[in-house]
Amino acid sequence: MKKAMLASATLLVAFLLSLPVIGQGEKQEAKWAMPAADGAALWAHMTNESPYLGWGIWPGQIVPVRGKSPHGEWIRVLANPIALKALREGKDVLPDGAIIMKENYNGEKQLVALTPMYKVTGFNPEGGDWFWVKYTPDGTVLGEGKMKGCIDCHTKVKTKKDWIFHTYKE
Ligand code: HEC
Repeated sequence: MKKAMLASATLLVAFLLSLPVIGQGEKQEAKWAMPAADGAALWAHMTNESPYLGWGIWPGQIVPVRGKSPHGEWIRVLANPIALKALREGKDVLPDGAIIMKENYNGEKQLVALTPMYKVTGFNPEGGDWFWVKYTPDGTVLGEGKMKGCIDCHTKVKTKKDWIFHTYKE
């Protein structure tokens, strides 16, 4: 009897130890493989697998805030759990799978475009491995990939913080 109890207790401990000890965000991301560097695949991921409205809003921002040309007059920036974790840890370079989503609103605060940057290791080493996309609000891809416009402008901050303009604040 004692032996049986000991055996089941051992099994229980073994089971508990086998459970992965990871954060909520990572657990969420672990359910799927991150999409390829492809506008349609990224849209499906951001609206279906990991709806971006559930991500963290870029800390320190009142929503929405005034944007700078060429982005919307009003903007809102969100970051997926992979990106947020790295930002909180003060990482200078964001890891594979990080997504920063930017909503661009017009002067009437209507959503007019979505312009995310998505880190895909090996996609474009000279460009910080960022995959750039511009979508209409319904997900139509207006441009994607190594987009010259995005890269030429964001290159100003490539050494500041991995091609990112905004400063992370808690
Ligand atoms: C002429 C310069 C310029 C161009 C072109 C440009 N951006 Fe930006 N981008 C900015 C500036 C400035 C900010 C920060 C201020 C703001 O958000 O308005 C920013 C912010 C962002 C952010 C939020 C993260 C960050 O860097 O702070 C994302 C995501 C982004 N841009 C994506 C894009 C994409 C995708 C394109 C191309 C379709 C693009 N940008 C083209 C200047 C530019």
